[in-house]
Amino acid sequence: MSVQGKLRLGVNIDHVATVRNARGSAYPDPVRAAQLAEDAGADGITAHLREDRRHISDNDIERLVATLRVPLNFEMAATEEMQAIAIRHKPHAVCIVPEKREEKTTEGGLEVAREENKLAHFITPLREAGSRVSIFIAADQRQIDAAHRIGAQVIELHTGAYCDLHAEGRFDERDAELDRMREMSTYAHSLGLEVHAGHGITYDTVQPIAAFPEIMELNIGHFIVGEAIFRGLNPAIAEMRRLMDAARSDA
Ligand code: PXP
Repeated sequence: MSVQGKLRLGVNIDHVATVRNARGSAYPDPVRAAQLAEDAGADGITAHLREDRRHISDNDIERLVATLRVPLNFEMAATEEMQAIAIRHKPHAVCIVPEKREEKTTEGGLEVAREENKLAHFITPLREAGSRVSIFIAADQRQIDAAHRIGAQVIELHTGAYCDLHAEGRFDERDAELDRMREMSTYAHSLGLEVHAGHGITYDTVQPIAAFPEIMELNIGHFIVGEAIFRGLNPAIAEMRRLMDAARSDA
């Protein structure tokens, strides 16, 4: 299977807004972070407008839409409220994620197979508005088949389990998860789906995923924003980019 162009890096700026909201101030501004990320070579910006607005706000989305030079990947739950916001703004991409109020972050992938009819109806107007629809799922053939049947153009594979297993030193299980993701990337690509991946990725975990030839985009946020505290946003992104490119050219 041939590699189809450069692996894109989408920088998720949610946690710049988390820091801002911790004090109810106007800073640090996630839109400024998005502009710096663009300058640092981000190929896209990802922002998740959660139902409880715990980090990104409606106004952030408006300003991102108005100012970004690179594509916006708008993450959202499958609710009517979010659907209306996405249709109003028409972002380049909409990534549908599961959302629970009590979770710290998006814990699992979307259950597409059980909600197939509902999701098929849900994404149709988003596609008609011109957004590419991406579905955030675990590396599971049932979910991939369902995402394909409902008409999604993209799947984003949830890398959280792989990254957690790595952090916990459970390397056999980590490698098994990696094998599953590799196999499912190939499978999804064979169906004509564009394959992205993200969640929990760090400098230590990015390279094996970046080496999958079918993966077109990685979406990375929390680690980059954390690392930016120590080395600045531009160098933090540049190092991620360097690791991704090195893994890709070695593959
Ligand atoms: N992709 C999706 C679909 C996500 O929900 C998230 C977290 O918001 C990310 C990527 C980025 O994850 P992280 O912030 O852990 O890098």
